[in-house]
This record gives sequence, structure tokens and C-alpha cells, in this order.
Amino acid sequence: MNETLERWSSRRAFILAVTGAAVGLGNIWRFPYITGENGGAIFLLLYVAFVVLLGLPVMMAEILIGRAGRRSPMQSLGHLAVQAGATPHWRWLGLFGALTVFCILSFYSVVSGWSIEFLVASISGGFVGASAEEVGAGFAAFLADPTRLTLNHSLFLLMTMLVVAAGVAKGLERLNNLLMPLLYALLLVLAGHAATTEGFGSALAWLFLPNLSAFSPLVMLQAMGHAFFTLAVGACALMAYGAYMPDHQSLPRAVAAVAVLDVTVALLAGIAIFSVVFAQGMDPGEGPGLMFVTLPVAFAELPGGALWLSLFFLLLLLATWTSSINLAEPMVATLQGWGLGRIAATAVVGVAVWGLGMLSVLSFSSLAEVRVLFGMNPFELVSTIPPELFLPVGGLLIAVFAAWVLPEPVALRALGAGTGGFRAWRILVRWVSIPLTLVVLASGLI
Ligand code: PHE
Ligand code: NA
Repeated sequence: MNETLERWSSRRAFILAVTGAAVGLGNIWRFPYITGENGGAIFLLLYVAFVVLLGLPVMMAEILIGRAGRRSPMQSLGHLAVQAGATPHWRWLGLFGALTVFCILSFYSVVSGWSIEFLVASISGGFVGASAEEVGAGFAAFLADPTRLTLNHSLFLLMTMLVVAAGVAKGLERLNNLLMPLLYALLLVLAGHAATTEGFGSALAWLFLPNLSAFSPLVMLQAMGHAFFTLAVGACALMAYGAYMPDHQSLPRAVAAVAVLDVTVALLAGIAIFSVVFAQGMDPGEGPGLMFVTLPVAFAELPGGALWLSLFFLLLLLATWTSSINLAEPMVATLQGWGLGRIAATAVVGVAVWGLGMLSVLSFSSLAEVRVLFGMNPFELVSTIPPELFLPVGGLLIAVFAAWVLPEPVALRALGAGTGGFRAWRILVRWVSIPLTLVVLASGLI
């Protein structure tokens, strides 16, 4: 089976697919609001450090395993472990990844659904001339309406599952190719606009001048989790994409390109959003609603604002779409590995994710005060614990497998970066990434 597996049509196609998985809600929605809740620059500094020291090397580890195994994540891990003389129980790591993306996709779909609602509202000119208070009140009313949230959540999940059922289509590859530059251009326009507002200076200071008193082990844990989340690392989702990687391609180069793209999207979004926050005297720690309030306010002041805003939500929707497809892949691949057909597997995953997602939908109305665990309601729980805990734990195990369990020739070949590059990567993973993840996890948990 492994020799006949599909391949991405080119090196570029692989980079695009991984970028599509990486750039999404993590950059435009989650990065600004988490940074806002965690003291600004100190969070940014830690997050960028974790991207370089953990995110990049572990991303290479994860994709390398998929490329060496050329099977679904669970089967690749099991097969490679047995080949290396280790225990086949490594395959359960693939199942853990599937569980992680199950939780993540459930809230991801709900929040991506918000951008459908906002796309429609901005096309119909709903935000023209609106004040910050009006947009804020409108957003609160929207969240409190489970019917509208359910509708958008269902629609987004349907869009995702249709593409997944059809296999990773060439169409998506091309769409990404066309649209990512447009998303960049729009973010540049927004950041440029931000530079003309009064809040720009405060936004830059808030983002780039660290306030050391905001530092805590918990902030460190959250920054680490976000580094994994934004790069889509730690859930075996990129492992699934690695299985289709072409033979002659340097993994470190591809991964570096993806990380640069991903971090710049987050920075541009942060500058655009915090400038409005400070210009309007809003609260940077406002939480998950941050971008859905600040962006309509920013565009309300721009000439042709309704058009730009619609375009922005359209691109956001497409960016989240290419991420959610990647989130679904490990679950579908796992079920297929258990003998289900692609369509049946997709249907099962879709129904299950929809059900779990409903708990997130209701977390903004009837379940808002329900404390499931650690004083969090269902939405808070699935949008916090899987990204901040499951991804680093998954990433840690992936790193151990790639750098300690896989035999050197297998890993060397799958990295595709020559002996020197391989040695440097392995030293980094063994002596920096793995210990650092352990230390941060331990200190954050205590
Ligand atoms: N990287 C995606 C984002 O930033 C989220 C994601 C996480 C996708 C894990 C796949 C796997 O929005
Ligand atoms: Na991202």
C-alpha cells in the first residue's frame, strides 16, 4: 500500500498544503486574544522563541515520520517502531493525535462559523458607520443566539467534510496558492491603516516592549502550546500530510518557509487589531471576541470599508477551511486504517465533531455557567486544554520517536537535508526541544 500512496504534485504543492494547515484561526483570532490576555510582548517573545526552538524541529520530526512511514499516522508509527525493534504500542500516539484534533476541530468549526456570519453581515453593509459599542453589543447578541451559532457551525463543518470526503483535492491546492498572497496583501493594508491611527504607537509598545512582571510559568505554558497550535504540530495532522511528500525535497527548507509565513500573518494581525483596541480605548484582554469586534470597527472608518471587510472575512474563512481539512485528516485516516471507506469515515467524523461542537455552541448561552473541569465551561475547556496540553505532550512523544527511536539511516533519508543538516536537527531535538518541553510542561502544571 505504501508504494502506491498519493503524492503532492510538486515541492511547492507540499509547502502550500502545510501553509494552508498552519495559517488559520491560530494567527488571526487566537494569537491576538491570547497575547492580549497574557501581557503582550512577553507572550510574543516566548512564543517566537518556542516556534524556533520547539515548533520548527518538532514539525520536522512529525513530517519526517509520515514521510518515512508513508501510511496513516497510526500505521506509520506502528510499522516504523516494529522495524526499529521498538514496541508497536507507539501506534497509540497516532490515536492520541486523533483525539486531540477531535477536540480542536469541534471548537474550530464553531469559531470559523462566526466568520461566515460576519462575512454575510459585512457584505450586506451591516457594520457601516457602527461604533465600537454597537459592534460589541451586536456580537454579544449573536453569541447568545444558539440557533445562529448552530447554523454556521453546521455549514462550516459540511464545507470541510465535503472536501475531505473527496480526498485532498487539487482544487484546494490551487485555491490556497491564489488566496494566500491576497490575505497577506489585505493584512498589509490593515496594518498600514493601523499606522495612521492614534493607537498604533501603543500597539507597537504593547506588542514589542516586554513587561517582565507579566511573566509566569503559566504564560510560558500557554506560549508553548500556541507555538504548537499555530504551526499545526503535535497532533499527527502534518504527519498525515508528510506521507504524501515528494521524494526529493528538503524538509528543513520547506518548514522554515511555512514558519516565516505563519509568524508574519500573526504579527500583521496583531498590529492591526491592537491599534484599534488602543485607539478605541478597548480592553486587550477581552478574550475570544477580540477580532470580531475590533476588525469591523477598524474597517468602519476606512473608505470602501464594507468591501474590504467582506474580503477579509472571505479570506479568513478560506484560511480556516484549509486548516480544518488538515484537522480532520488524522481522524479520517485512522478510521480508514481500521477498514472504513473514505466516505463512511468522513461521515462518522463529521457527525461526532458536530456533536462535540454543539457543546461549544451552547457554552455562549445555556452552558455558559457550567463548569466542566478547572472552572471552565465546555468551550473554554476544548479551546484551552487540547492546544496547551495535548499538543505539547503529543509533540514531545513525536520528537522522542523521531530522534531516539527511529534508526539513523531512516530518519536521515526522510529529513532530506544531508548528513550535516541531520546531525544539527537531531542535536537540537534531543538536547533542546525535548528537555525544554518537559521543563515547561512540568513548571506550568505545578
Ligand atoms: N494551525 C492551525 C491554525 O493556526 C490550527 C491547527 C492546529 C491545524 C493543529 C491543524 C492541526 O489555525
Ligand atoms: Na497558525
